Formats: sequence, C-alpha cells, structure tokens
Amino acid sequence: MKLSLQRAITSLTSALDFVGVDEVHHGKRVALMALGIASELGWDRASCRDLLYAGMLHDCGVSRTREHRQLTETLEWEGAEEHCLRGEEFLLACPPLAQFAPVVRWHHTRWEQLQRLAIPPDTRLWANLIFLADRADVLLAPYFSGQSLKNEILWEYPAITRRIG
Ligand SMILES: [Fe+2]
Ligand SMILES: [Fe+2]
Repeated sequence: MKLSLQRAITSLTSALDFVGVDEVHHGKRVALMALGIASELGWDRASCRDLLYAGMLHDCGVSRTREHRQLTETLEWEGAEEHCLRGEEFLLACPPLAQFAPVVRWHHTRWEQLQRLAIPPDTRLWANLIFLADRADVLLAPYFSGQSLKNEILWEYPAITRRIG
C-alpha cells in the first residue's frame, strides 16, 4: 500500500488533535497560522509546505489530556519540554517524519535561549514560528466557537498581540 506523506501527516494530525478532547483542532490551527506567517514573510513553496507539516505534528509528544490542558491554560509552563522531547523521539523513530524532529524539539523554547544553542538557524526560526502560532492559538482558544472565531476577537486581538510581544 502506498500513502503520500501529506495524507499520512493529515491523518496523523486528525488523530493527534483528539488528545485535547475539549479543545480540538489545535494542531491544524497552529499549522495554518504558521503557514500564514511564513507566506507573509515570503517563504518559498516547499518551506511553507514543510512548515505546515511541522505545525500539524508539533504536539505529537502530548500523550495525555491533562498535559494538553497544562499547555493550553498557561502561556509558559515548566513541564512543557517533556512533550517536546517525547515528540522528537517519536519522529526520529519514523524516517519519513524524522526531518521534523528538531523543530518539534525546540517549539517551546524562547528565542533568547534558541540563539544560544548550537542548532541550525533554520531550526531556530521554524521552531520559533511554530511557538508563536502555538501561543497565539492558546490565547485565541476562548474565542473559538465550534471551528470558527467568535466576534470578540475583533476587540481582543490588541491585548493578545501585547501579551505575546
Ligand atoms: Fe507544544
Ligand atoms: Fe501546541
């Protein structure tokens, strides 16, 4: 049986998104937000596609609903690194997805710390872009109703932007 990487990742993210139980589709929203930012930055098509995949997979190390809640209830949480390490390990064990392991490993590390690490500049940038989209989604989550944003976002986005900045 042959399966395209795109189909495999899309199916996988649908399963991963159920970890949230009461806050689903986080992976897809983060992926689309990151893609939007990358497009605005003028990234090439292949990089945008891979960033979309990395976004869909970014929380593959979250294995429990309790852990998902901790990640979505606070902007920064001390235990966040655990799911990054777990996600990196899972992806490294799967050769077609191993290329996304470094981004997943560092997607909760602040930019100041990333700059001190001996990792490729692209990994820093990709991981930070996913981190930005991820935290924006956490702040936006209360404004989601079903799969669409409620109108409150029109009034709340300046506060959300300030909080991230
Ligand atoms: Fe995460
Ligand atoms: Fe996340």
